[in-house]
Order: sequence, then C-alpha cells, then structure tokens
Amino acid sequence: MTDKDFDQLHYVDFSNFLEQACGIVLGDNKQYLVRSRLTPLIKRFSCVSINAYIDSVVKGNRQHQKAAIEAMTTNETLWFRDDYPFKLLESTLLKQFSSNNKRFRIWSAACSSGQEAYSVAMTILNFKKQQPNSFRSGVEIVGTDISEEMLQQCRTAEYDQLAISRGLPEHFKSDFFEPADNDKLRLKSQVRALTTFKSINLLESYSSVGKFDIVFCRNVLIYFSPEVKKLILQKIAASLQDDGILFLGASESLSGLSDKFTMVRCSPGLYYLKKPL
Ligand SMILES: C[S@@+](CC[C@H](N)C(=O)[O-])C[C@H]1O[C@@H](n2cnc3c(N)ncnc32)[C@H](O)[C@@H]1O
Repeated sequence: MTDKDFDQLHYVDFSNFLEQACGIVLGDNKQYLVRSRLTPLIKRFSCVSINAYIDSVVKGNRQHQKAAIEAMTTNETLWFRDDYPFKLLESTLLKQFSSNNKRFRIWSAACSSGQEAYSVAMTILNFKKQQPNSFRSGVEIVGTDISEEMLQQCRTAEYDQLAISRGLPEHFKSDFFEPADNDKLRLKSQVRALTTFKSINLLESYSSVGKFDIVFCRNVLIYFSPEVKKLILQKIAASLQDDGILFLGASESLSGLSDKFTMVRCSPGLYYLKKPL
C-alpha cells in the first residue's frame, strides 16, 4: 500500500467517525496506527483500498463500522491491575459494604477481556471465605465494554497461559481456575456466577445497568476528549449509590473534570467518593 492509498481527507473522515461512534480521539498523527489496524479488514471485506474501506464506514456500512471500532480499541488488561484497588477492597471497603441489606453491586466499565471483573469476584469470594455471613443479600459484578469480541471472551472465561501469567497470584490460580481445552484455564462456576457481561458504549445511556456501590472505570477515559470525559463522569456519578465509590486507573485523575466526587487518599492508593447530593 502506498501513501496515495490513504490520503489525509480519509484520515480526517475516519477520525471523525471514530470519535463520534465511541469517543476515541486519534489526533493528528496516527495514520500509521489506522493503517496497521485497518489493513486486515480491507482484505477481510475485499475492499480495493483503505480509502474505499473508510468510504463505506463513513457512509454507514454497519458491519464495516463495527469491525473498525473493534480494530481501533485497545484491550490491554491484566489481573489485579495496579493492585491497590483490590487491596483496599480486601482491607476496608468490603467490610464497609458487607452488612448492607441490599445486593452489593460493582461495575467494571470498559472491562476488556474480563480480568478486572473477575479479579473483583475472586477478592469477594476470598473475603466471604473468612466472613461467611457477609453479603447475605447477594453480590453482582457487571462487566461492560463496547467490543463484542471482548465480551465474548469474558463470557467464555477461558484464558491462555500468557494471559494467566499476567498478574494472577498463584493462590487465586489454584483456588478459582480449572483446566480447559487447548492448555487454557477456565474460571470456576462460583466465580462466573457472580458476574454478568453486557454491551455498553460509554457515550450512550447507562440506564439498563442500574445503580452501583462501586464503579471501576479504568484506563479508558485516557482515549477521550475532556468534554466526553466530563459527560461520562457525570453519568457515572448518577449511576452510583449515595455512598458509592469510583476507581480510576493509576495514572488517571478527576482534576478539572468533575465536582461530583471527593478524593479519598489511602495507603496504598486512592479512590473517589460520591459527594452527597
Ligand atoms: C485498555 S482497556 C481497559 C481494561 C480495564 N478497565 C483495565 O483497566 O485493565 C480499554 C477498554 O475500553 C473499551 N472501550 C473503548 N471505548 C469504549 C466506549 N466508548 N465504551 C465502552 N468501552 C469502550 C475497549 O474496548 C477496551 O476493552
């Protein structure tokens, strides 16, 4: 493919489409990224060039649009990412919520292949082993993502050895996984039973998922413009119970984006507590 096959006009058209469809801002210089992510799709859909593929995306071909969004999202994740949110759950937060007489609900927004949601589930099951009478009204962890391929992986709950090797402590591996085909490991049914997975585009309505005690929205806002981040944070605040808690990624902050939360510094890490209305 030559430079003529991918002109600036098509790059701008594609960037606008992507930002409108899922919030991801490409900026001025990501032609190489678009080219490398879309090239397999040009072949898969038998298009004559990247420009032709982008034309059909922009004109509204749903199948091409969906595939382009799948290709452009970054699904990097691992077990117990950043460690401290899970340490805080274990040391203080679970105890705090454990005697509530309503179902304890946690949302892993932009859950990728499910490691975040399942890390929360394993942390809760570990806590319940020591406190069998906790969370008597039940626990529900909802994982959502825009990517159907990632949601499919979440529901299958099977992970290859490379994925398993990234951040999963040995005792969680032996307690909560069982062998599956092709040298993979599958999460046991007790872990899967706590989780449900659903398609949610963070730019759209969250009304179908209800209210939560804790929201994990980590390592996804970085892809969006400040305006979109503000709107998402406003909707997340509305999806939290009055004493609800938000975790962002370790390198992310709410600074200048939302006045709906108070930052609570802990040792280790921090979280954001929803302000009373
Ligand atoms: C880098 S992963 C983060 C996964 C996990 N939260 C973590 O911190 O390890 C970002 C995820 O955001 C999802 N994503 C991107 N744009 C989205 C949108 N508009 N709505 C919902 N999910 C989106 C991607 O599909 C991807 O799985």
